[in-house]
Amino acid sequence: MGKSGKKTESHRHQHGRGRRASRFRGGGDEDGDEDGDELPSSAYDAPPSHHEDSDGDDTDEAAAEDEHEEDVDGGDQDLREAGSMPSKFHLYQLSVQSPKGDISYLQKFFLMYVGGRVALHLQEDFCGTALLSTEWLRTDARRTAVGLDLDLESLEWCLGNNLSKIGADGYSRLLLFHGNVLQPNQARLVKQKISDIMQNLHVNTDNNSLTSDICDQLNPASPKGTANSTMSDVVLPARDIICAFNYSCCCLHRRKDLVLYFKHALNALSKRGGIFVMDVYGGTSSERKLRLQRRFPSFTYFWEQEEFDIISRQTRISLHFQAGKKQMLRHAFTYHWRLWSIPEIKDCLEEAGFKSIHVWIREMPNTQSGGNAKEYNANRDVKYEELQHFNQGDAWNAYVVGVANI
Ligand SMILES: C[S@@+](CC[C@H](N)C(=O)[O-])C[C@H]1O[C@@H](n2cnc3c(N)ncnc32)[C@H](O)[C@@H]1O
Repeated sequence: MGKSGKKTESHRHQHGRGRRASRFRGGGDEDGDEDGDELPSSAYDAPPSHHEDSDGDDTDEAAAEDEHEEDVDGGDQDLREAGSMPSKFHLYQLSVQSPKGDISYLQKFFLMYVGGRVALHLQEDFCGTALLSTEWLRTDARRTAVGLDLDLESLEWCLGNNLSKIGADGYSRLLLFHGNVLQPNQARLVKQKISDIMQNLHVNTDNNSLTSDICDQLNPASPKGTANSTMSDVVLPARDIICAFNYSCCCLHRRKDLVLYFKHALNALSKRGGIFVMDVYGGTSSERKLRLQRRFPSFTYFWEQEEFDIISRQTRISLHFQAGKKQMLRHAFTYHWRLWSIPEIKDCLEEAGFKSIHVWIREMPNTQSGGNAKEYNANRDVKYEELQHFNQGDAWNAYVVGVANI
């Protein structure tokens, strides 16, 4: 898991107002509403430390926003009350992720580049705690998701902490696989508690056989497999959207691996058309030593970037958390990344067979704004735009969208 701070919910913690951005004007969601107004995940979004905290209009409005946000607020409240260092996954989600914003963009991209149907089936590669997949299920009862990650601990944390909150049929609509994105077919289904599944079986019967598949995985007598099933053993609905967020593709260092990964993604997308979406960050601030921090009501989040090697384009990113004055969780997450450039990514997507590639980019708040909260907040509302050219700046964030053949 990884990446710098951003996220709508946490921002509301700090400002007491939603990031009701104008970014989706003219876009709208699949239902035609223009309510896709939450910022997605993004890099280098660490605000000037004290100014934001001292707004004074802090958390009251935020508490009234919506169901999910109540979860998040509630989580932070718990942290404050508990007084002990919470799970690193919980802290990560609060400070780094913004699944509603991400989903709004995914829907918008699907509508623009594929269209003709509602996107129902998501695969979240490098999913970590699969918060995005969990939120995806919330948005439509027909939706399914597949999550894939190398880190079993984060997948199991998802089952116990994210999926458990989304309602009765969540276990039947989300399958988590433990494995490498470079060998997805060998990834192993993460065992879910049979009691949870049995309890929910009756709820979901028309969902592209995910429910019955899970049943089959867990039934040793089933011809489809056992609890040790791999992804290739399971009949999954063709994916409408596959995403790799929070700069996860930077975990792959070799060009041939990136192309191979993109080929696997293309392969899993629906033949009726689908999209692959990844994010990447850049700017002059991304190619040097950098430390950013963001304060939340009960903890502080730090993004620490080591020296950037311009020959290999590699760097190491560490995320730290501090709660109170003394509780420091250093190196909660550490990533060794190759920072791919946009043209490199586009070339690799093309080589893998994607039909068209689109770049959406936004300038990020200046990392050197020196605590100027006004300037920082103005920059926050800059929306993503599909662009062919973009002059280098201090910090930017981009989505790269690969469209599969229709
Ligand atoms: C930066 S985190 C992103 C987590 C999540 N997608 C998010 O948006 O916050 C990268 C994740 O990729 C996983 N990962 C790294 N290399 C991987 C690989 N080759 N195959 C599968 N997962 C991998 C890590 O375990 C980690 O959970």
